[in-house]
Amino acid sequence: PGEALLDTRHRPLRDLRISVTDRCNFRCTYCMPREIFDGNYSFMPHAALLTFEEIARVARIGVDLGVRKIRLTGGEPLVRKNLEILVAMLAPLRTPEGQPVDITLTTNGTLLAKKAQALKDAGLSRVTVSLDALDDEMFERMSDSQVSVKTILRGIDEAARVGLAPVKINMVVRKGVNHGQVVPMARHFRHSGHVLRFIEFMDVGATNGWNMKEVMTGAEILHAIGAEFPIEPVASSYRGEVAGRWRYVDGAGEIGVITSVSQPFCGDCTRLRLSPEGKLFLCLFASQGHDLRALLRGGATDEQLAQRIAAIWHGRDDRYSELRGSAGAQHKKIEMSYIGG
Ligand code: GTP
Ligand code: 5AD
Ligand code: SF4
Ligand code: SF4
Repeated sequence: PGEALLDTRHRPLRDLRISVTDRCNFRCTYCMPREIFDGNYSFMPHAALLTFEEIARVARIGVDLGVRKIRLTGGEPLVRKNLEILVAMLAPLRTPEGQPVDITLTTNGTLLAKKAQALKDAGLSRVTVSLDALDDEMFERMSDSQVSVKTILRGIDEAARVGLAPVKINMVVRKGVNHGQVVPMARHFRHSGHVLRFIEFMDVGATNGWNMKEVMTGAEILHAIGAEFPIEPVASSYRGEVAGRWRYVDGAGEIGVITSVSQPFCGDCTRLRLSPEGKLFLCLFASQGHDLRALLRGGATDEQLAQRIAAIWHGRDDRYSELRGSAGAQHKKIEMSYIGG
C-alpha cells in the first residue's frame, strides 16, 4: 500500500469500469446493430455472469490496489435486476487512506426515472446518461427503438432531483446522421446544470461499420457550437480525464468533448475493465481478456486475486487509439455492448 501500481507505460490503476450485463433494450446502430444483435444472437447465460458478491469482491481488491473511481456499465446496466443492491455493496468501500470511492453509472436512461431514488439511497454518487438527439425521429433512428426523448429527459430530471448530480449527458455524434443535433442539444442543456459531452464516433467492436468519414471531430463540434454560443476552455480537473472541458462565456454552463479518434488520450489511461463474466480487459479495443472467474470460483484467497490483478496491470502495454490504423492495431476487437465503453 502507498506505492502506486504502474503498468509498463507508468500509468497507475485508478478507474475500474464494471460491465454488469451484455444485454440492452436499445439497438443503437453504432453499438448493437439489429441485423447482428437479433433473436439469434447468443447473449451470456445468467450463470456465466459474475454474482454481485463476486463483483464486489473484485472491486474491493481493486480499491486496495489503487482504484479511486468505479463505473457501472453494460450493455444497459439497469436491465440487470436489483442493480441498487450491487451499488449498496460498493458504496461502503474506502481507499487505504480512508476516502470514499466515487461510484457512478452510465445508462441509456430508459429505466432511470423509476430507479434514480433507489440508486441514490444505495449510495450512487452520479450518473451519466446517453442521449444522441432531441428530435424524436432522429433519436429513434440512432437508438433503433420506440422510446421517446421525453422518457430519457424525465430520467435525467429525476436523477438530478434526487441528487445524482451533476448529471452528465453523452452524445455520440455521427456525421451524416445526427450532426444536425449538436447545436440543438447544446441549446437545450444550457442553464440546466447538466454537463453535455460530445463523443467522437469510435471504431469499437467489429460490427458497427465504422468509417472515418462519419467522424465529426471534437474541433468541428466546438466550431459549430462556438459559432452560436461563445465558449472558452476549462482546465481539466484530474490527470487522465477523458473529456476536454469547455464553458459558455456567458455563464450558461459547461460542455465536454471526448476525442478518442482525433486526439487520443492513451498516455494517461488509468482504466481497467471488468466484463460481465469476469474477464479483465486492459483496453476498450482489446481482443482478449484475462479470466478472473476461474480463480474467484476456485477458492482463491484475496491475496492470490490481488497478485493476479497486479500482475495483469503490471504487464499492460495497451494504447489502441494511438496506434489506430497502423499495423499494430489490426485485430478483432471486443464489442462495446459487452465491455461498456
Ligand atoms: P467521468 O469523467 O467520471 O464522467 O467519466 P468518463 O467520462 O470516463 O465516463 P463515461 O462512461 O461517460 O465515458 C465517456 C465515453 O468516453 C465512454 O462512453 C467512451 O465512449 C469514452 N471512453 C471512456 N473511457 C475511454 C477509454 O479509455 N478509451 C476510449 N477510447 N474511450 C473511452
Ligand atoms: N463510438 C462512440 N461512443 C460510443 N458509445 C457506444 N458505442 C460508441 C461508439 N462506437 C457510447 C454510448 C455511451 C457510452 C457508454 O459509449 O453512447 O454514451
Ligand atoms: Fe445500448 Fe448503450 Fe449500446 Fe446504445 S450505446 S445499444 S444504449 S449499450
Ligand atoms: Fe485507454 Fe485503450 Fe482507450 Fe487508449 S484506447 S485510452 S489505452 S482504453
